[in-house]
This record gives sequence, C-alpha cells and structure tokens, in this order.
Amino acid sequence: MISPLAWPAEAIWAQIFPLLPDFTVEVLPTIDSTNSELMRRARAGQQEATLLVAEQQTAGRGRMGRVWQSQPGDSLTFSISLPLAPQDWSGLSLAVGLSLAESLHPDVGLKWPNDLWFQDRKLGGILVEAASMGGRSQVVVGVGLNIRTRSADGLNTAPAALSELLPDMTAYTCLARVAAPLIKTLLAFEAEGFTPLQARFESRDVLKGRRVDVSDGQVGLALGVGRHGALRLQTAAGIQDIVSAEVSVRPLKSESTL
Ligand code: BTN
Repeated sequence: MISPLAWPAEAIWAQIFPLLPDFTVEVLPTIDSTNSELMRRARAGQQEATLLVAEQQTAGRGRMGRVWQSQPGDSLTFSISLPLAPQDWSGLSLAVGLSLAESLHPDVGLKWPNDLWFQDRKLGGILVEAASMGGRSQVVVGVGLNIRTRSADGLNTAPAALSELLPDMTAYTCLARVAAPLIKTLLAFEAEGFTPLQARFESRDVLKGRRVDVSDGQVGLALGVGRHGALRLQTAAGIQDIVSAEVSVRPLKSESTL
C-alpha cells in the first residue's frame, strides 16, 4: 500500500522541476514492470520526463530476457523516462551505474556493463531501453536495488543488500538519495557522453585486473573500460573491445590461462 508521506516524491520533483519543467513523479502500489509501463507510454507518444516507482512488480524484467524478482520493501524498483538525444549512446548504462554507486556508498562497485556489486555479489541492476518515435528517442532507465537481504532464490549466490552497508536504508530513503542525481547524470550524459566519467567508473570497476568469462565464449583479463565504455579484454588473440549489450561477463573463480 502506498504511504504518500514516506515516498519523497515532492522533494525529488522540486529538485528536478527547474531542469525539466514537465517532470512528474508517480508511485504505484503494483504494476507488471515500471520499464514495460514507461516503454508502452513512450511508444504511445508520451515524451514527458517521468519517474515511475512501483512498490511491487509482478513481471519485473532484467537484461537479456531475464526475470527480475523483488519483494515489496526489500527492494527499490523504479524507472525514469526522458527524451534524450546524445551524439553517442555508448556508455549510457555505465553512467547510470556510476551515478547510483556514487549516490550510495564508496564501497559500491561496478561490474561492466550494468551491475552494482558489493563484496562480489550483485546489489542492483539496470535495464536501459529506448523507443524511437518520429526521429526522437525516449530513453527508459530501469533500476532495481536490493535494500534488504533475501534468499538466493535459485541463484548460485545470495544477492547483496544495501542494508549491509547502510543499516538504516529503506526504499524511501534510497530513492531520495539516488533519483535527482541520476536524472542530472542523464542530462549531463546527453551533453558530454561517457568520456568524462571514465576515470570515476574505473575507480569502482570490480572486473579490472581479473580474468573474466564473456557469454560470447571469450575469456581474458579485464583491462578496464575505454573512453566510450567498452570493456577492454586481453585475450589470447590480442586486446578485444567488448561493446555488445547482449553479453554477460563474470569473473572466473580460479586463475586460468587466457
Ligand atoms: C538486470 O540486472 O538484469 C537489470 C535489472 C533491472 C530491474 C529493474 S526493476 C525496475 C525496472 N523495471 C523492470 O522491469 N526492470 C527494471
């Protein structure tokens, strides 16, 4: 059930309104997926900047067709829809992750391309989608953050939760910390791209210096990210730039040769 006083909708709106006068904040008790809803609206021609928070998602989606499961109160699930026209889209999801990590805690790490990590476990994920309508692009950035610890639920490792780092954190206080900086990051990305953020991403990069396994079959040593957000991988065939959003990467548990 929505507690309108607890969700910081007005405070967020007041911070963003001077930058985006048509900005709205919406909190729903339940929906299939905040990304799906904002993509439906974008495809129907809605161009207003919107922050949509759901207390519960019945069909939350992750990257690469995966399901995103969350329980009300145990996680924060929201999406932001914005008209965006950057010169270069590459690195957008890395910019989103960096903004979230910097708003949360110095110990939050970033696992290329879209995950927030803490102590080698997933703390949160990002799903970036875009709809093109008549030459204009509307981007939908979805964020799921684990607030309280939950069971492994069939995953190999139980996910991390922000309460491990920030014991008093709730979904409400978390949204208040991350939402306005994230929208400002999206607007800055539109103007400047990923390059100015590369060094800050690198300082939180949990893969750099580790051997990783890419879902396209490549194995190599992660060298960090390039100026446009590609994952640089030292492989037996030389340095490869991994750019596809359709791959997943995981660090190898044991040391092995390239
Ligand atoms: C991933 O790690 O694969 C991305 C997870 C993204 C989950 C968030 S929760 C809010 C928004 N709505 C969705 O259906 N997905 C994103």
